[in-house]
Amino acid sequence: MNSLANKNILLGVTGGIAAYKSAEIVRSLKKAGSSVRVVMTKSAEEFITPLTLQALSGNKVSSELLDPESELGMGHIELAKWADAILIAPATANTLAKLASGRGDDLLSSISLAFEGPISLAPAMNQAMWKDSRTEENIKKLINSKFQIYGPGSGEQACGDVGLGRMLEPDEIISSFSLLFEEGLLMNKSILISAGPTQEPIDPVRYITNKSSGKMGYSLAQASLEAGAKVTLISGPVNIEAPEGVHLVKIKTAEEMHEAVMHHIRNSDVFISSAAVADYKPESFSKEKIKKSNKDLDISIPMTENKDILKSAGEMENKPYLVGFAAETNDLIKNAKLKLSKKKLDLIVANDISNTEIGFDSDENEVTLINNEIELFIEKGPKKRVASKIIQYISEQLTS
Ligand SMILES: Cc1cc2nc3c(=O)[nH]c(=O)nc-3n(C[C@H](O)[C@H](O)[C@H](O)COP(=O)(O)O)c2cc1C
Repeated sequence: MNSLANKNILLGVTGGIAAYKSAEIVRSLKKAGSSVRVVMTKSAEEFITPLTLQALSGNKVSSELLDPESELGMGHIELAKWADAILIAPATANTLAKLASGRGDDLLSSISLAFEGPISLAPAMNQAMWKDSRTEENIKKLINSKFQIYGPGSGEQACGDVGLGRMLEPDEIISSFSLLFEEGLLMNKSILISAGPTQEPIDPVRYITNKSSGKMGYSLAQASLEAGAKVTLISGPVNIEAPEGVHLVKIKTAEEMHEAVMHHIRNSDVFISSAAVADYKPESFSKEKIKKSNKDLDISIPMTENKDILKSAGEMENKPYLVGFAAETNDLIKNAKLKLSKKKLDLIVANDISNTEIGFDSDENEVTLINNEIELFIEKGPKKRVASKIIQYISEQLTS
């Protein structure tokens, strides 16, 4: 069944050129079987008439915070209680700033504060407004709160500029939004995810590590939870909070990660190896801090290979659906395909880490999903959105 059927959707429309596309969004939501109520900002009314959205939604359009017609004169609370989810499309830079700072000076922002469910935002603005560091800060805050961000897309803009900032097309927005309700996708499935870097000790104060922030793995854990899965997250040392509801296992070395993965993998339907595990570790560990003054000491550090976690998983008899990450700086697709077959994986997520705007430590990513049948490019976006798409693909594979 269509996941949007019989849902109460509150569509927020704010004052940008893309407001004309909200008419198409209302139509698509209605077609999918949702009940739709539209809340417009004052500025939005300059771009599209409430009458159009009223006619399409079949409901009165609201914009006033003080609503004498609502039962208790508190339309914002009533609408917040009525909605199953809120979608704000287009979302202006101004509205994003208000939501990020928790302001409630009009009906839409007040509802957003009073609403306890998911709020999805489709930003739309001039490329310079999108690039502005304050907008960037606001987006980060929103992603870390109860908001999902769809897009924006890139291309020619109404003002003639070219760049990121265009609102995604209504069908793209609706397909991401409908995922919110497909919580059964991974229901009763156990997902094991490894994330973050490892630390390979040299002496009591030094270790070899890498730049992995764990953001991708943690986003995958969040997306799996949202899809209804039971999630175990085996994580190297990172500076981010694990999503509430995951079973978090903290490790430091590659050896500990190997042990933890092999222990939990037996009960898992899927193993996603997104951790950046050290291939090598120092051959020996100096119990005492290596001193600078010790001139006779050979300061080269002999290394030995760590056990390959994915290879061990691939050799299991009843192995789960195995997903690897190929973080490459060159020949991305070729190297990813090699890894896919060598490690007997079901899917590999190819990740170009030569581009510093994506990949390691960045909030955004752009990946290609590769198996023997497909090469599916997932365009650049917040790691949370990319993670949702990866989880959606994996769940489709499990059910097909
Ligand atoms: C013609 C015109 C087009 C605009 N387009 C956008 C836009 O696409 N995105 C945006 O963030 N602001 C845009 N603005 C600025 C917003 O309308 C303005 O920041 C307003 O205060 C937004 O209010 P709201 O967020 O309450 O709807 C535009 C303004 C004008 C006059």
